[in-house]
Amino acid sequence: METKPKIIITGGLGFIFSHVTEYFVQKGWKVVVIDNESTGSHPEIVDGSFEYHKMSVCDREVINLIRAAAPDYVIHAAAISDVDYSLREPYKTLEENILANLNVFEACRELDSLKNFIYVSTDEVYGECEHRKKEDEIIFPRNPYACSKAVGSIMRYTYDNSYPNLLDKTSETRFCNVFGPRQDTRKILPLIKHALETDEPIPIHNGGLGYREYIYVKNIPPAIDLILEKGNRTYNLTLNDGFTVGELIQQAEKVTGKKIKVYDEHRPGMDMKYQMDASRIKDELGWKPLYTFEEGLKEYFVNGN
Ligand SMILES: NC(=O)c1ccc[n+]([C@@H]2O[C@H](COP(=O)([O-])OP(=O)(O)OC[C@H]3O[C@@H](n4cnc5c(N)ncnc54)[C@H](O)[C@@H]3O)[C@@H](O)[C@H]2O)c1
Repeated sequence: METKPKIIITGGLGFIFSHVTEYFVQKGWKVVVIDNESTGSHPEIVDGSFEYHKMSVCDREVINLIRAAAPDYVIHAAAISDVDYSLREPYKTLEENILANLNVFEACRELDSLKNFIYVSTDEVYGECEHRKKEDEIIFPRNPYACSKAVGSIMRYTYDNSYPNLLDKTSETRFCNVFGPRQDTRKILPLIKHALETDEPIPIHNGGLGYREYIYVKNIPPAIDLILEKGNRTYNLTLNDGFTVGELIQQAEKVTGKKIKVYDEHRPGMDMKYQMDASRIKDELGWKPLYTFEEGLKEYFVNGN
């Protein structure tokens, strides 16, 4: 009899990974979520269809929990993920995110059952991107959040190299800016959606000149599935739909025919441009997205989904 794969997802109630949790539940896998229900979490998705542990990944108990569960796959996505918060609270952000990474790597090095482990990272680890960054370029994080994520990237190389259970079984994702249902309301696309719905003015950083690439959240679960099946490297994930915040606002106004009011806020030390080259995941793993940027934006803004 074929047994269902078991997957552990840390941060599986958060904006992006709540969609991943639901994807693997629908696929019929045994899903175990570990989440402490801090900022960004969606406990309303807990419905008995997956095993749920409300706890911090910083708690050493998590090591025993992961080892006892003997999963086939582990995704480590739990993190304090807010740049502004990390600038105000660098101790908490660095302490928590780095300790969480360490606990998950420690648990996984003892896992004989493990087939693949994904560490979820970000385009922010590259720092200012004067050209489209490739995965093997130097990482140069420039805010406390990005630094905490980059430590996990380095830790992954260390653990993959040091422990036989992990050798060639770890992967890493670096997403561009993800948008879609369940995103934290303080991020730019939910703010734009809010402005469209209420006509209230919204804050934009540094004159709206920050350039980011955007991808719709429903593209993420199948990409994660593909990496679990075939990947063992670091993969940038972007479709190169890049805009300044000012341009995004113009696009939203065009799609909806409404006007958006803004006011400026200064974010010190802000990277003005993130852009990545995603040819590795396309060429080596055959990744194809489900949604274009426009399709995602339409579903998110117009259909109210
Ligand atoms: N949002 C993006 O555009 C983006 C881009 C690149 C990478 N990422 C990465 O993707 C992951 C998810 O991001 P998101 O935007 O969905 O964030 P989110 O804040 O919505 O979700 C994070 C989840 O992790 C949980 N969590 C945080 N610290 C925890 C801890 N110590 N123990 C247990 N659970 C904890 C939170 O409760 C939340 O449910 C993060 O690792 C982030 O760095 C996000």
